[in-house]
Amino acid sequence: MPGFVIRPIDPEAHDEVALVAERMRLTLVEVLGEETGGAMYTREWLEDRVREHLDPARLRGQVFVAVESGGAVAGHTIVRIEEDDGGRAFGVFSTTYVAPDARRGGVADALLDRGEAWMREQQVTVAQTWTSDTNDPLLALFRKHGYALTLRVPEKKMVVLSKAFED
Ligand SMILES: CC(C)(COP(=O)(O)OP(=O)(O)OC[C@H]1O[C@@H](n2cnc3c(N)ncnc32)[C@H](O)[C@@H]1OP(=O)(O)O)[C@@H](O)C(=O)NCCC(=O)NCCS
Repeated sequence: MPGFVIRPIDPEAHDEVALVAERMRLTLVEVLGEETGGAMYTREWLEDRVREHLDPARLRGQVFVAVESGGAVAGHTIVRIEEDDGGRAFGVFSTTYVAPDARRGGVADALLDRGEAWMREQQVTVAQTWTSDTNDPLLALFRKHGYALTLRVPEKKMVVLSKAFED
């Protein structure tokens, strides 16, 4: 039995929205370094970006949090639906973050499963994420879930990983 449950974020809970926004910043710091990642966006911008994923009038998205039995938020994943150049919809995992003291306990595995289930509910058949080409834990996580590298952007040191859902 895992010691956490996965549920949608509570859009009315400002502390949850603020926590996920702060962890978006921490993700950027971990991936890009304090100097580049830490100063990229303001707190207000990040909180608005979280809220955008919860407002169907702005985009089709969702934020899932992993909540430990004591109530602490161990991690989150932000998902949304985008369209490719041909107008075909696909699912995107935006940031996925697990607090350092909760890592290696299967939290990200469970967040990915929940995010994919949401994408299937949205009727998309392809999911995608992108990250730094040196982010070995994230690359290993998505490869474990069947994702393959589909694009490399060397000038940005970024890679895209994709997966087609099986029926
Ligand atoms: C990547 C991250 C989300 C993984 O979270 P986690 O809860 O520790 O991951 P899990 O325990 O669910 O591990 C699932 C799989 O991911 C991979 N993985 C996770 N951490 C890893 C590590 N440090 N090294 C190598 N593989 C790792 C493994 O394949 C693992 O499967 P296994 O346990 O069967 O070997 C977490 O390390 C993190 O938040 N990193 C910083 C933020 C970040 O870089 N986010 C992505 C940018 S969008």
